[in-house]
Amino acid sequence: MAERTALLACDTIVKRYGSLAAVDGVSLTVAAGEVVGIGGPNGAGKTTFFDVVTGVTPATSGQVLFEGADVSQLDADRLCQMGMARTFQLNAAFESLTVRENVEVAAYFGRQQRRFPGFRLGRAARAVTDEALDFVGLADKADEKVGLLPVLDRKLLMIAGAMATKPKILFLDEPVGGLNASEIDLIIGLVLRMRETGMTIVLIEHVMRFLLALSTRVVIMHHGKLIFEGLPSQVADDETVVETYLGQGARARLKKYFDATPAEVQA
Ligand SMILES: Nc1ncnc2c1ncn2[C@@H]1O[C@H](COP(=O)(O)OP(=O)(O)OP(=O)(O)O)[C@@H](O)[C@H]1O
Ligand SMILES: [Mg+2]
Repeated sequence: MAERTALLACDTIVKRYGSLAAVDGVSLTVAAGEVVGIGGPNGAGKTTFFDVVTGVTPATSGQVLFEGADVSQLDADRLCQMGMARTFQLNAAFESLTVRENVEVAAYFGRQQRRFPGFRLGRAARAVTDEALDFVGLADKADEKVGLLPVLDRKLLMIAGAMATKPKILFLDEPVGGLNASEIDLIIGLVLRMRETGMTIVLIEHVMRFLLALSTRVVIMHHGKLIFEGLPSQVADDETVVETYLGQGARARLKKYFDATPAEVQA
């Protein structure tokens, strides 16, 4: 790992909401090309950690370095233009626009600072949009209104929008939450393709077969802190993780995972 560049370095991030420390001193470094999977119980602070790092909400304290520069005070739009993109746990799209228009907005505003008056798509933004729609498999639905799309397509749309900003690091918050097994397999295939291109990814997911299949490193959060950091194959061996999050039944299934094909594990 030492020879790889630290693309992202988060140092002792704290985010307080009143008396609650939703994120309570999290330090995490992500090297270029890594896929870091974040798990942990509801309310552990996973999404809040994403919100702080991606500039959606300011940290109470702590520092975020991106490509060596202190970006702790920057807003989400600027961070996106620097190469940080994310998807959201809940749907985030312009409902009355079409699929293509949503991705065009990302391609236009996500890569450089622009003003809204004078919005005019260039050839480059159109090309990036087409590429992103093809990549996620939404080209056939490009002209449909987003408000009418099923859950899977909404998840794919958020990924397409993020990809259209040409990110150096991509944050995915529960990309398969609410999807069925075959839909999960489809997104696993998509993220594997991203991984093969060398993209750096940080993902949050409760679906353990997704987390374990895709991550090169796993961290588990609980009460705002990291309680585990290691390889996917080590997660089910960790007593604290089993006690606070997985439970003994899931441990048995997950241990099977490493002797089975991903489809056989329904954790
Ligand atoms: N804007 C907010 N104002 C007040 N409290 C908040 C806010 N956002 C999050 N919290 C609280 O911070 C804690 C962490 O929430 P967060 O959404 O980060 O958890 P999570 O790990 O993503 O959970 P889940 O797996 O359910 O998505 C929770 O107790 C939540 O209620
Ligand atoms: Mg969350």
